[in-house]
Amino acid sequence: MREPARVPMLDLTPEIDEQWDELTVAMAAVLRSGRFILGPQVAAFESEAAAYLGASHAVAVNSGTDALAIALRSLGVSPGDEVITTAFTFAATAEAIAVVGAVPVFADIDPSTFCLDPGDVASRLSTRTRAVVPVHVYGAPAPVEEIAGVVAGHDVAIIEDAAQAFGARAGERHCGTLGAAGAFSFFPSKPLGCFGDGGLLVTDDAGVASTARSLRAHGFDGGRVAVAVGWNSRLDELQAAVLLVKLAMVDKRADGRRRAARTYTELLDGVAGIVTPADVAGSAWHLYTIRVLDGRRDEVAAALDGAGIDCHAHYAVPVHRMPAYERPGVDLPETERAAAEVLSLPLWPTIGDEVIERVAGVVAGALG
Ligand SMILES: Cc1ncc(COP(=O)(O)O)c(C=O)c1O
Repeated sequence: MREPARVPMLDLTPEIDEQWDELTVAMAAVLRSGRFILGPQVAAFESEAAAYLGASHAVAVNSGTDALAIALRSLGVSPGDEVITTAFTFAATAEAIAVVGAVPVFADIDPSTFCLDPGDVASRLSTRTRAVVPVHVYGAPAPVEEIAGVVAGHDVAIIEDAAQAFGARAGERHCGTLGAAGAFSFFPSKPLGCFGDGGLLVTDDAGVASTARSLRAHGFDGGRVAVAVGWNSRLDELQAAVLLVKLAMVDKRADGRRRAARTYTELLDGVAGIVTPADVAGSAWHLYTIRVLDGRRDEVAAALDGAGIDCHAHYAVPVHRMPAYERPGVDLPETERAAAEVLSLPLWPTIGDEVIERVAGVVAGALG
């Protein structure tokens, strides 16, 4: 009897197949145009993404990390400033802060959402705080409005790390448009992904957008004269053409992820020893992540691996425990607990119910 195929964390081939003709036509048109960097595809994508998100300005760059760093610089975050953020995130959040010379100050998370706890943000504010970077972890909206309440009256900008949350909404508004600026990643696994690296910064402030446009291209001011030390962080035409095609399907893909998440929760809710993620309205469901209690996470991961199923602990090592950003005296109990318990299961927009049933069966069996 043939072994069933290994289940990956993510399988993008069905959705690429579904848009194969549009994607290849769009890519071929770029090849024929002879224009590869910052051309009409990038301009069209910026304008369509801004319209989709409800942002006044969108500036395409070559990664989510750069989008965040350029947003911080464009909003005046300078060397020595403190920026409060979460340690329960991908390392790039802290990296972008450090790259602009600022100091990441880690606040703890709310255990029910995995996102920054506004009360703990309040306790970490200092006279040197210049910005807060909430992360929409796993694609679910972080409490940006509550954090805005906490920093009201201080000269502190909110810059959203929406790398995992393209298409996510908090009420009527899109994540990424709730603060002074938002940063998105188009890494292939993200809710809107390209075929390489890509990112986008959005803002309603024309001055911030104009600074960001300059910074993404060496700090040039119109011509080739640098007026600031910038980056080489331009999105290329091929990626923009791909993103334009995929943007048209982003809501359909989100529906697929939501359907899969609900199926997982239906199957796993009664299993003792795990906590399923909250069904947060507006989540982009970048990842479906359970908590495995009683120190049994690695046992469940091993059972999945043995059954031919990929899984991953996002984030087993919180950023304040990484050598580059280590903060020995900092106490983040909820972050530490989450890091020891979380386990992300395979999820993609077109994942079949039979795959979800197989994964859920192994999780339940490992704990039974
Ligand atoms: C929360 C978070 N922030 C930032 C990034 C960085 O994005 P990129 O890989 O496009 O630089 C990522 C993605 O990998 C992420 O998940």
